[in-house]
Order: sequence, then structure tokens, then C-alpha cells
Amino acid sequence: MDRREFLKTGTVIGVATALDSVFAKGVIESGLDRLVDEKGNFVLQPLPYPTDFLEPVIDEETVYLHYTYHHGGAVKKANKDLQMIKKALKEGNLSEVDYWTKRFEYHFSSHVLHTIYWTNLTNKKIEPKGELKR
Ligand SMILES: [Fe+2]
Repeated sequence: MDRREFLKTGTVIGVATALDSVFAKGVIESGLDRLVDEKGNFVLQPLPYPTDFLEPVIDEETVYLHYTYHHGGAVKKANKDLQMIKKALKEGNLSEVDYWTKRFEYHFSSHVLHTIYWTNLTNKKIEPKGELKR
């Protein structure tokens, strides 16, 4: 097995393992289920506040557009990428697996980071403490 074959095989095993773990019961138990529905599809959860909650710092339209199209777009694309990875795996098309895996990494991480972003914003003024205050 040369280096190229090794990398391809490793990619397939890595993707297959990631897919197994993403949809395994363990994910639900670990708390990542907020990112997926009961069927394992990535879902755009409702914002934890109304779209005007962050005004005047972030206006309602910006929150709506960001949530609906940037985060929502990442969710839709992560679902499509995952379908394409599964299809490519069934067909044994490793270059397609690699292509869709890279797209999936980008869109899935966007989904995770947006979820963290929305749930860490507040409209209350909070003074930094400890190390942040320095
Ligand atoms: Fe964004």
C-alpha cells in the first residue's frame, strides 16, 4: 500500500467512523443532540430569544438574516454534504468522499459555532471579571 492508498483508506475509515459516531446513541447522551433531530438530520433550532432581543447593539434584521441564511444555510448544506458522503461511500468513489467531507467539515463546524454564538449572547451589560478584566 503506497502513501496515496493509505491516505484514501484512512479517509474512508475516518469518515465512516465519524458518521457512525455522529449518529450513534452516544451523541445524544453527550448533548450534541441539540444539533440534530431524532432522525440524525442537522436542524436549525429556534433562537433562544426574539430577533430584536439584541437591539440596539445588533439590529433585528441583522439577527434575522444571520440566523436564517448564514446559520440556516450551513445546516442545509451540512445535511446535503452528509447525504453525498454516504452516496460516495456506497459507490466507493473516494475522491467524491474527500470532496464532500471537506465541505461537510466547513458546514458542520459553522453549524456548531453558530449554535454556540447564539446561546452566548445577551442584552444585559456584563462587566468582565478575573482574567478578562485585566
Ligand atoms: Fe455567521
